[in-house]
Amino acid sequence: MTSRSIRSFVVRNGRMTPAQQRALDELMPVYGLEYQAAAIDLQKIFRRQAPLWVETGFGNGDALLSMAKRYPEKNFLGIEVHAPGVGHLLQGIKNSDLENIRVIRHDAHEVFDNMLAAGSVERVLVFFPDPWPKKRHHKRRIVQAEFVSVIEDALQSSGVLHCATDWQEYAEWMLELLQARKRLKSLAPQGQYSEPPDYRPATRFENRGRRLGHDVFDLLFEKVSA
Ligand SMILES: C[S@@+](CC[C@H](N)C(=O)[O-])C[C@H]1O[C@@H](n2cnc3c(N)ncnc32)[C@H](O)[C@@H]1O
Repeated sequence: MTSRSIRSFVVRNGRMTPAQQRALDELMPVYGLEYQAAAIDLQKIFRRQAPLWVETGFGNGDALLSMAKRYPEKNFLGIEVHAPGVGHLLQGIKNSDLENIRVIRHDAHEVFDNMLAAGSVERVLVFFPDPWPKKRHHKRRIVQAEFVSVIEDALQSSGVLHCATDWQEYAEWMLELLQARKRLKSLAPQGQYSEPPDYRPATRFENRGRRLGHDVFDLLFEKVSA
């Protein structure tokens, strides 16, 4: 099995409410993008030129929705494989009448690899990715050198990769991995985590972690100019 055949997610047949199903059927053609193995034309899709923030694994999408409302001057792209979450976000976009957000239901690694042109993204957000706590499952973690490499390609110069987790051992894993990247530089002093930036809303999984008494770790790394 090659490392790219190991997925960071398991496709679950989660419960889909009728409203989520209707949103998928009716709103995916409006706010959704089909996966394609070729770079997309962002200017055409958003009908304007604006900095692009991409959230991968947005869950129910509430954090993404609130950032898109708060920052109308940015374009937002959400990537998620879990259908009920995609339906939930689509409904939220329609209810809020937002123009600056698009959604892809597909593996984020492939989206970065194929759909996002080099230097086209200002900020990549990976909030509370599945920690895959068992050692034998660590290979399923989404934050791996190969994934970070395709993110680096997509980031513009001085663009930022922002990861957050409530799983301390995964935070340490990410810190070690990201500090070793030649194209990234931490926005925190060596060996330390960053303060959570004001723009990051509390997510569903963050709230769950806090209820369990977990600390939360933010990692912000900037792309170094060539
Ligand atoms: C633990 S949840 C966190 C959701 C949300 N960010 C939050 O904080 O509430 C992780 C999410 O990442 C999604 N995911 C995992 N691997 C993915 C991938 N390769 N591409 C897209 N989504 C992925 C899962 O479906 C899941 O919804």
